[in-house]
Amino acid sequence: MSTHPWYKSAIIYQIYPRSFQDTTGDGIGDLRGIINRLDYVASLGITAVWLNPVYPSPNDDNGYDVSDYRGIMLEFGTMADFDELLTGLHARGIKLVMDLVVNHSSDEHRWFQESRKSRDNEYRDYYHWWPAEKGTPPARFSYFDPTGGWTYDETTNAYYLHYFGHKQPDLNWQNPKVREEVKDVMRFWLDKGVDGFRMDAFQFVGKDTTYPELPPTTAANAVAVYGLRPEVHGYLREIKREVMDHYDAFTVAEGAGSTIQDAVDLSSPEREELNMVYHFEIADYAAKKERFDLIGLKALFTKWDQGLAGKGWDSIYLGNHDVPRMVSKYGNDSPEHRVASAKCLNTLLLTMRGTTFTYQGDELGMTNVDWPTIEPYRDLQARNQYKTALERGDDMNEHLSFLNKFSRDNARTPVQWSDKSNAGFTTAEPWIGVNPNYRSINVVAQEADPNSVLHHFRQLTALRKAYPVLVHGGYEPILPEDGRIFAYVRTLDEASLFVAMNWSEETVDCVLPELFVGGRPLVDNYGSANGEEDIDSNEVNYSSLNLQTSSFCLSPWQAVVLQSSTPKP
Ligand code: NOJ
Repeated sequence: MSTHPWYKSAIIYQIYPRSFQDTTGDGIGDLRGIINRLDYVASLGITAVWLNPVYPSPNDDNGYDVSDYRGIMLEFGTMADFDELLTGLHARGIKLVMDLVVNHSSDEHRWFQESRKSRDNEYRDYYHWWPAEKGTPPARFSYFDPTGGWTYDETTNAYYLHYFGHKQPDLNWQNPKVREEVKDVMRFWLDKGVDGFRMDAFQFVGKDTTYPELPPTTAANAVAVYGLRPEVHGYLREIKREVMDHYDAFTVAEGAGSTIQDAVDLSSPEREELNMVYHFEIADYAAKKERFDLIGLKALFTKWDQGLAGKGWDSIYLGNHDVPRMVSKYGNDSPEHRVASAKCLNTLLLTMRGTTFTYQGDELGMTNVDWPTIEPYRDLQARNQYKTALERGDDMNEHLSFLNKFSRDNARTPVQWSDKSNAGFTTAEPWIGVNPNYRSINVVAQEADPNSVLHHFRQLTALRKAYPVLVHGGYEPILPEDGRIFAYVRTLDEASLFVAMNWSEETVDCVLPELFVGGRPLVDNYGSANGEEDIDSNEVNYSSLNLQTSSFCLSPWQAVVLQSSTPKP
C-alpha cells in the first residue's frame, strides 16, 4: 500500500468543455458531451480530470470571468448534469479537479454589481477602487487590456483594478469577507464530492492596498513585480487549515512565483499551503522563438526536478488551453514527423517526476491552426494583440503568423472525434473553427490504427501506473549537453528505468548506461503496440533497437523506455 497521497500519482487529463463535445447543437461543447464521452476518457488510462471553468459567465474570457461561483453555465447544462458527470467519473475511478477563478470575478457578478453602485455599498471593499479625485491611479499592467489595469467607472467616479480584462475586476483578498466567501465556495464544491482545485492566477491575489507606484511592468516581469506577495502564503494556509484539511482533496495554484524557492515555499508539505505548483518556465520557454534549444529545455526540467526533489511537488505539462499545441511547439507537426514526435512528447510527460497533465487532443497529436486572417480568432487576448499591432503599424502578415504559432486559440479548436462534418464535435457551426486536418487526425482513425498516438498514449498511462519509479523515483539526466537527445535514468530503491528520446529529425547514437545493456524496451514509439495497452502482455515489435552494446541508435523522434537486464520491481 503506497503511503504517498493519491494526487502525486494522478494522471490528469484536462478538459476544456467548450471545445470537447457539443450535444445540444449550438456549436458549443457541454457537460452532456463529456458524459457521453466518459468511456473514451476512462479508456485513456487517466485517473483524474481537470475541468476548465463551468460556472455561469458572460464569457468575455471563456469562463475565466465568473458571474456565479455556485452555478453551471447555461450553455454547458445544469447542476444535474454536473452531478451526473461527477458520479460518472467517480464510478470509473476518476477524480475531478475544478478550476477556481478567484483572483477576479466577472463584472457581472452580483458582488461587483453591488460594489460599483456606491462608495459605501457593503460590497465596495470586495474589489480594489481608486477614487478619481486622487488623480490618475499608479500604473498597473493588464494581461488583456492594452489600456492598462485600471478602468474608470462613472457611477462612483472611481477606477477599479483588473490584472486581466476590464470585465474581470480583481477581488480584494485583504478583505476577510472575500476570503470567507471563497472558502464557502470551495466547501460547496467539496461537499458535492470534487477532488481538488486548480486555483487560477493565484499568485496575483495579494495586493498592497496603499497602491504604491511600482516599476514599469509588462507580461515579462508581471509575476516578479505583482506575484506572490507575502500575504499570499498566509491566505493559502488559511484555506488549507479551514477548508482543505477537512477533505481528501488537493490544491494546485496556477503560477509558482518567480523562483524555485517560491515554489518550494508553496508546495513543501510542512508549510501547509498547496499540494503542488504549476509553474510557467517550461511552457514559456522560448515562447516566441522559431525554435527552442533542447539543451536549455532539458536544463529547465533538471533545475525544477532538483529544486523540488524531497521538498515540494511539481506538475508536468507541455500543453494547456493557454498555450499552442505541444506537437507544433516542441515537436514537429509535419506529416512526416507528427506521429513520432507527439508520441515522443507524451513519453516525456508520462515518465517525469511530478503529477502529469495532458491537455485534451494531445493524446491524438492535435496541431496548431493556420488561419490567414484575424476573423476566425475568438480569444480576447489574440484580438486585442491584433488591434494593438494594427494601431502600431506592424507588418500584419508577420503578426498573423505570430498568432498562428502562439495564440491560445490553437489549443481551443474542437476535439477531433471523426472525419465527419465538424470533426464530429457538433452538428451546428462550431463556436471556433475546427482544424481542417481533422479528416486525417481524429479519434476514430486512431482507434483503428495500432500505431496511433492514441494507442501509444494508453501504453504510457499503463506504464506509469505499473512503475511507481516513474512517479516518485529520482531523476538523473544523461547527456545534458546533447542538443538532440533527451535522456534520463529514473531510480527508486532497486527499480531503475532508462528513458531515451531523440528530439530531432536525424538518426542519432545514444549512450546506453551499463545497467541497461541487454535490457528490454517497455515502450518504444517505433514499435507496434498492436492495440494492446497491457504493458506486461504487450507483443511489441522492437526490431529497430539493438541493446547489446554501450550505445544504440535512435531514429528521428524515437522515444523508448528501457528496463535493465536484471529488473527489480
Ligand atoms: C489563466 C487562465 O488559464 C487563462 O485562460 C485566463 O485567461 C487567465 N488565467 C485569467 O483568468
